[in-house]
Amino acid sequence: MSPRKFFVGGNWKMNGDKETLGEVIMTLNTASLNDETEVVCGAPSIYLDYARSKLDRRIGVAAQNCYKVPKGAFTGEISPAMINDCGGSWVILGHSERRHVFGESDELIGQKVAHCLESDLGVIACIGEKLEEREAETTEDVVFAQTKVIADNVKDWARVVLAYEPVWAIGTGRTATPDQAQEVHEKLRGWLRANVSESVADSVRIIYGGSVTGGNCKELAAQADVDGFLVGGASLKPEFVDIINACS
Ligand code: PGA
Repeated sequence: MSPRKFFVGGNWKMNGDKETLGEVIMTLNTASLNDETEVVCGAPSIYLDYARSKLDRRIGVAAQNCYKVPKGAFTGEISPAMINDCGGSWVILGHSERRHVFGESDELIGQKVAHCLESDLGVIACIGEKLEEREAETTEDVVFAQTKVIADNVKDWARVVLAYEPVWAIGTGRTATPDQAQEVHEKLRGWLRANVSESVADSVRIIYGGSVTGGNCKELAAQADVDGFLVGGASLKPEFVDIINACS
């Protein structure tokens, strides 16, 4: 049995409206969910308040992004203070869509990580290689470099979850095999052991994301270093319940 509490995050991305998200929420509220799994739903920022007011208290609410300072003249941005004010307790940072669609740099992601942790939010920090990087056999270099920038900005690892999400697996239906996921997770834990500490390496949840479904989640969850999932498409479907219960 892993000493780490299984963690499943849903990432609704820019999908849904009050009606359809309300249905997703109703499904979760009435489902039988494994108590041993920590569950968080990543809502679009405009629906943070709505999600928090509707979701059962055993499910946390996450924002999908935020800015690196508490307030100011940053049109269109939201702050960790605002996420807290709307009842959110987590934020997803460094998602591949933020990195590759919106051009966020490692440096900016690091600054956001530091500020969110100082603001008492938990951080789901995402890393992952692109297809051409995997093919060039640079996966390790890429994910270690991304992890280093995150680690340089973390003082307290208790509220950090590391999400390994190979870019080629996100939204493509092409999931990493359990062996591929385990291989990278194990290396990441080794990196934490060598560069942060033994206890952080043992305690930090490393979760997998990229085309996780009700059908493939159990085999992935059975891997020694897979401590949960970050789920996009399937988090909007009833099968999200099966993913939450993957390690039951
Ligand atoms: P997906 O997305 O499950 O739809 O592949 C995962 C993610 O982007 O976090």
